[in-house]
Amino acid sequence: MPDGNEPELDTYQPADERLTPPESFVDQANVADPAVYDEFTDPDAWARAADMLEWDEEYDTVLAGESEPLRWFDGGRLNAAYNCVDRHLDERKNQRALVWEGRLGERRTYTYLELYQEVNEFAAALRSLGVEEDDVVTIYMPMIPELPIAMLACARIGAPHSVVFAGFSADALATRMNAADSEYLVTCDGYYRRGDAVSLKNKADTACVTVDEDVTTVVVDRLDGFEYTLGEDEYEYGPLVEDHRRERVTPVARDATDDLFRIYTSGTTGEPKGVTHTTGGYLSYATWTSHAVLDIKPADTYWCSADIGWITGHSYIVYGPLALGTTTVMYEGAPDHPEKNRLWEIIERQAVDVFYTAPTAVRAFMKWGEEYPEQHDLSSLRLLGTVGEPINPRAWKWYYEHIGNGECPIVDTWWQTETGGILVSTLPAVKDMKPGAAGPPLPGVGATIIDGDGDEVAAGEGGYLVIDQPWPGMPQELCEGRDWVERVTEAAPPLDSFDWAYPTEDGALADDDGYITILGRVDDVINVSGHRFGTMEIESAIVGVEGVAEAAVVSGTDEVRSDSVYAYVSTTAECGDEDRLREAIIDAVTDEVGTVARPKAVVFTPDLPKTRSGKIMRRLLEDIANGEDLGDLSALRNPEVVGEIESAVDPD
Ligand code: WT7
Repeated sequence: MPDGNEPELDTYQPADERLTPPESFVDQANVADPAVYDEFTDPDAWARAADMLEWDEEYDTVLAGESEPLRWFDGGRLNAAYNCVDRHLDERKNQRALVWEGRLGERRTYTYLELYQEVNEFAAALRSLGVEEDDVVTIYMPMIPELPIAMLACARIGAPHSVVFAGFSADALATRMNAADSEYLVTCDGYYRRGDAVSLKNKADTACVTVDEDVTTVVVDRLDGFEYTLGEDEYEYGPLVEDHRRERVTPVARDATDDLFRIYTSGTTGEPKGVTHTTGGYLSYATWTSHAVLDIKPADTYWCSADIGWITGHSYIVYGPLALGTTTVMYEGAPDHPEKNRLWEIIERQAVDVFYTAPTAVRAFMKWGEEYPEQHDLSSLRLLGTVGEPINPRAWKWYYEHIGNGECPIVDTWWQTETGGILVSTLPAVKDMKPGAAGPPLPGVGATIIDGDGDEVAAGEGGYLVIDQPWPGMPQELCEGRDWVERVTEAAPPLDSFDWAYPTEDGALADDDGYITILGRVDDVINVSGHRFGTMEIESAIVGVEGVAEAAVVSGTDEVRSDSVYAYVSTTAECGDEDRLREAIIDAVTDEVGTVARPKAVVFTPDLPKTRSGKIMRRLLEDIANGEDLGDLSALRNPEVVGEIESAVDPD
């Protein structure tokens, strides 16, 4: 029964403009032959992705498992760190693998040889601390070189890593460590935020108090002379690695289906959702898409401005680019510090060829104005990309003109933490671009849009986006079967008409050419600056505050961040001063989830709008936050509350 909470799936009309990629781009592109789309007639076509890697043992089958579990590149054995580092030593040991730009303007580079040495030494150090194959190592660090080094060191010894974004709170870290049964933590003393030193070690210490296991911790020295105490089972990175100088660790051959890493994302339950990516399937997929979509070549300097704490950084700062032997740039700072030209200055200085960022960043650049990019020579750029949320045609065009000078194709790449890599995007040399639409599914990827009854919708009609063929980047949990999907998915339409299907929980529509426009999430998940947060996770932090009766969070749109968190809160009789309560609510979200999910607005209301069956009408709250026309309120049990909420949001 419709109760007013359904997604608005049919309201968006994509632009019908199309742009053709410049010939100069097509001539040099990794994948330029349209025949690639016809070559994926069956799963065996994915051999091309696996064959980009070096295997210790060749796989027997591309896709095994008539039913579940599905096994990509079954029988094959390989090591991810070997593929990202060692195998490049013959041809390019003195080429830069990693270029780091620090927050205080520091610069550090690692050649492939230097990266090889550091990864070996830290791998030896981890082993000496007792880390064995299949032990989960949690990594909680800002954007410093030791973060990818630690990931690769784990991969070398077959220990899956679990990277937790440094902006998450101690509680969030502890929850993830417990969920992964992780006994090892690599962190650092702290980081700089706009020049001020902020402790990370304190947060890690707080987390470890509530971790079930005894934790062994390695602390990287990021801040100069920052004081912290080193407890029992805690080691400083520098001296530890020094003890293992020049040691070499043979890369552990892992089954293609073995775990490479685990990562947590938000779902509709209060608990974060753990996703595990495989060594063979994931690495093949990250590598192939880096080659085919991002057009990365070994001679390039490539920059993805995401944080490695999210999946984007795993796949497209670390694994894909390094597997291809390119130079990958890592930036620790903020885009507007010390000046709003910071990114353009880096692109000019490093002669970046390919730049991949989030639409929220593009909208910020647009707001700051074109005078900043205009100060710099950006002619090294060849290709631009976006990820994380829809990019509106106006921001798309600004990016195209003012960053790409009208000469660089843009890839609008749709994917998720679960998918491991890009599933929907134009191949930049093969397909025209349509600003606002991500593009067709990649070759070999099956995507269908269906309505609430499970029937495919016509072109131009909105519905649920479903992936209907397995792909090598799919997570372990999905390889194992549909149970997982059923457990973690709320907003899935019936999937009976498919042999196999993964419901993405995104609303979408496709045009006559099969270009997909993403309309947004259909579950209770908020996309803040291109990353997912569960409404439940934030709401449970808020209702834990004394004085709060009920809470609902929705996304409100501001000019730059496509979505920011708006919290609607009803209070108990003895809630006290509103300003104090508002502060307590913001603190609770900061402590329990992290600064990333801080509400932009906390609106107090005597009651939350509810349907007759008692469900909170989130859609309506979202419309209020965004100043939209509210339409028919007759489905509400308590319509009188709406006027009060409206005046609380916007007193004028
Ligand atoms: C959700 C996944 C993929 C890494 C970053 C976020 C949204 C992602 C696009 C795009 C429109 C997009 C979807 C998706 N999304 N890319 N190009 N156009 N929406 O990873 O936190 O797992 O979030 O981000 O809603 O489901 P994530």
